Amino acid sequence: MVRRRQLFEGKAKVLFEGPEPGTLVAYFKDDASANNNQKQGVIIGKGVINNRISEYLMVRLGEVGIPTHFVRRLNMREQLVRAVEIIPFKVVVRNIVAGSLAERFGMEEGKPLPRSIVEFYFKDDVLGDPMVLEEHITAFGWSTPQEIDEIMSLSLRINDFLCGLFMGIGIKLVDFKIEFGRLWEEESMRIILADEISPDNCRLWDLKTSEKLDKDRFRQDLDRIEEAYQEVARRLGILPEGNPGDFQGPHLVQ
Ligand code: TMP
Repeated sequence: MVRRRQLFEGKAKVLFEGPEPGTLVAYFKDDASANNNQKQGVIIGKGVINNRISEYLMVRLGEVGIPTHFVRRLNMREQLVRAVEIIPFKVVVRNIVAGSLAERFGMEEGKPLPRSIVEFYFKDDVLGDPMVLEEHITAFGWSTPQEIDEIMSLSLRINDFLCGLFMGIGIKLVDFKIEFGRLWEEESMRIILADEISPDNCRLWDLKTSEKLDKDRFRQDLDRIEEAYQEVARRLGILPEGNPGDFQGPHLVQ
């Protein structure tokens, strides 16, 4: 086994120093947390599935010109990524009313939004990740107006692409959270997509039944949590059914 120097342990991932300069190894855990760590547990096999799902989505996004930190998957639970300077706010994109949006405005879950909403949240566990405005971000020097424009534009392109991709396998992309980083190459800097995209940070509902196929099953103490994650991977065609070489491609839904 390769010994790696641990740099950071988060709620769902551990980051290790990578084998080449400017790289990191992301290890996907089965640990799950919700409500800013008030609820903790384990979703068996989640790390393996999220490693695969995030790989698949990042590669597909890369194919349509979205720059991402993903380099390659190393094994069942680890992927090699580019080290970036993480931008200290999260981006949430919403297409359908759910979660904190439903709570904040007393709206019923499930109502499609007339246009997608993009929100920013400051990454701070102690403060419980408060929502922030562009004004806070620029006033506190977390990002420039030009970077925010780039982040907005990338987020909406990611949303359009992922909505179509999930629609094709019978899933509604209700909302999701993404993170970005700065990649420095000599004198120039690019904003790239970082972290992961998986059922941990997306709301994914079955197109016909609106059954939840994401971490809300854990947040809301529903049953069949593992099965929901497996179902997303299965529909994406990335859950090996016989042996690990049996990749079948997405299961298109008519
Ligand atoms: P919310 O409705 O709880 O604000 O979450 C919106 C979406 O973003 C949902 O898919 C969960 C995801 N999310 C995270 O994964 N991590 C976060 O810290 C936040 C605020 C949201």
